[in-house]
Amino acid sequence: MTNTPPLPADGSSTLRPSPSVVARATDVVRVFGSGDTAVRAVAGITASFRRGEMTAIVGPSGSGKSTMMHLLAGLDTPSSGTIELDGQLIARLSDDHLAALRHERMGFVFQSFNLLPGLTALENIRLPESLGARQRSRDDVWERELIARLDIGRVLHRRPHELSGGQQQRIAIARALAHRPAVVFADEPTGNLDLATGDVVLRLLSELVVDSGCGVILVTHDPRAASRADRVLALRDGRVVAELGRANATDISALMLADAHDHSDASLRTP
Ligand SMILES: Nc1ncnc2c1ncn2[C@@H]1O[C@H](COP(=O)(O)OP(=O)(O)OP(=O)(O)O)[C@@H](O)[C@H]1O
Ligand SMILES: [Mg+2]
Repeated sequence: MTNTPPLPADGSSTLRPSPSVVARATDVVRVFGSGDTAVRAVAGITASFRRGEMTAIVGPSGSGKSTMMHLLAGLDTPSSGTIELDGQLIARLSDDHLAALRHERMGFVFQSFNLLPGLTALENIRLPESLGARQRSRDDVWERELIARLDIGRVLHRRPHELSGGQQQRIAIARALAHRPAVVFADEPTGNLDLATGDVVLRLLSELVVDSGCGVILVTHDPRAASRADRVLALRDGRVVAELGRANATDISALMLADAHDHSDASLRTP
C-alpha cells in the first residue's frame, strides 16, 4: 500500500468556503478523440452537489453519465472547465494529493460491488481507512452503527464469494461510508440486484446519507432508483436538459421519455 502525503494544509488549493457544497462542476467539457471522430461526451455542464443530499444523474445510454461521474471523482480530467471537490480545485492538486483526497474524502459503490475476493467482508469495509494517508483512528461507534443498520453483522467473517449480491452491496456501502467521506459516488449500484433488494439497498444508502451528512451522486438509468434521490438531473448529449426535485418513478420516467422526444426542456424544469 502506498503512503500518500496529507492534503495541503496551507489552503493553497482551497476555494472560498461553501460548507454545504461537496462537489461542483463549472462549464465542464470532455471531448474524446479529435477531428471528425471527436465525441463531446460532456458538452458544458455546471452543477453543484450538497451535503446530506442524494442527487441522481439519469439519461439514456451514451448521454455522458459515467463520464461526468469520473470527472467529478477526479478519475478523468476535463478538456475545459473546473471540478471542485470538498473545497479543493482538482486541477491544482498533484497526483498524490488527488489520490489522498480520493481515499480520505470519497466513497465508491459500483454495479459489480468491487469487493476484494481475498479479504473478508470486515477487511473490505476497513480497506479505505488503511489506504488513507493519515492513519486515522477508526470510528468504532460509526462502524458498529453501519454494520447494525445494514444488517451485516453475521456475515463479516465471510469472503465475497460466500455472500449474496444484496449482502455484497451492503458491505460495499459500509466500505464507502466507514471512513466518513464527504461524497459517495454510486454508478448503477442496483444494476445487478433484483428489484426488492435494490430498493432496500437504496433506501439504506439514502438514509445513511442524511445521517452521515455526506453527499451522494447516483448514476442510474432506472427511474425507480432515481426516485430515492432528493434531486434528479437528466442528461442528454452531454448536457443537463432537466432538473427535478424529489420525484416518484412515474414522473422520472415521464421526464426521461419527454426528454427523448423534446429537447426544449423549460417546461420540465422545477425551481
Ligand atoms: N474513453 C472513451 N473514448 C471515446 N469515447 C468515449 C470514451 N468514454 C465514453 N465515450 C463516449 O462518450 C459518450 C458518453 O459515454 P458515457 O459512458 O459517459 O455514457 P453513459 O451515459 O454512462 O452511458 P451508459 O448508460 O450506456 O453507461 C458516448 O458516446 C461514449 O461512446
Ligand atoms: Mg455509464
